[in-house]
Amino acid sequence: MLDIQHLTARVQSKTILKDFSYNFKDDSIYVIMGPNGSGKSTLANCIMGHPHYSLDSKSRIILDKKNVTDLSPDKRAKAGIFLSFQSPLSLQGVTVFQLLRVALAGKQGAYELKKEMLREAKKLKIRSDILERSLNDGSSGGERKKIEVLQAAVLHPKVAIFDEVDTGVDVDALKTISTFMKTFKKNKTIIFITHNSRILKYISPDKVLILKDGSLVKEGGKELLSVIEEKGFENL
Ligand SMILES: Nc1ncnc2c1ncn2[C@@H]1O[C@H](COP(=O)(O)OP(=O)(O)OP(=O)(O)O)[C@@H](O)[C@H]1O
Ligand SMILES: [Mg+2]
Repeated sequence: MLDIQHLTARVQSKTILKDFSYNFKDDSIYVIMGPNGSGKSTLANCIMGHPHYSLDSKSRIILDKKNVTDLSPDKRAKAGIFLSFQSPLSLQGVTVFQLLRVALAGKQGAYELKKEMLREAKKLKIRSDILERSLNDGSSGGERKKIEVLQAAVLHPKVAIFDEVDTGVDVDALKTISTFMKTFKKNKTIIFITHNSRILKYISPDKVLILKDGSLVKEGGKELLSVIEEKGFENL
């Protein structure tokens, strides 16, 4: 479903991702781990089309057999890629509902959309006053992460990338998000970028990928998580 081929990404003259290739399949959960600065967020940003990064001419991002490498982020989002940010920004004057309304561009009526958003917000235990504010305005780190998940819930992407959705959330919020993911994951490609295996107590990944210094150095099943917990990334 999401096929990344020879992805090499630079910022100015610094090469961050080095010939990363991987075929992410449908209906599967992936976990990407790796040391700080290894390029995990860069990978997520490049998949979404962040303009900061320049890609080598051999780099290809293929979604459902369509080459999306040259598409703008909004077109990739419409094609079905969703990215939940490691550090979600706030947006003054725009509520999450207004944002979703624009994102769905008339595909769903306002009434239906609001109903769906409120239903999903309830599952995620998001307070209604947070929904009424400007996006992430004054929200805590954990509240921001839940609002990111809410957007994924309503947008129904084919590929959802969650960059450290479990960082900064308390134990109850983590359980709420994890429970939510159990139904959300159906028929999707889900990629969790994470530093700890807490969320993985509730969600069982199909594959674990380890990124080091911009390259994919190891791929395995969930047993790899205990190896990392025990030995760290040094000896991989
Ligand atoms: N826009 C940018 N300008 C300059 N350097 C950048 C930029 N984006 C990423 N980098 C550098 O690329 C490297 C990889 O960063 P990235 O954020 O992808 O790492 P990460 O694996 O997500 O780390 P963490 O686990 O800390 O979130 C870092 O050294 C970072 O400083
Ligand atoms: Mg990161």
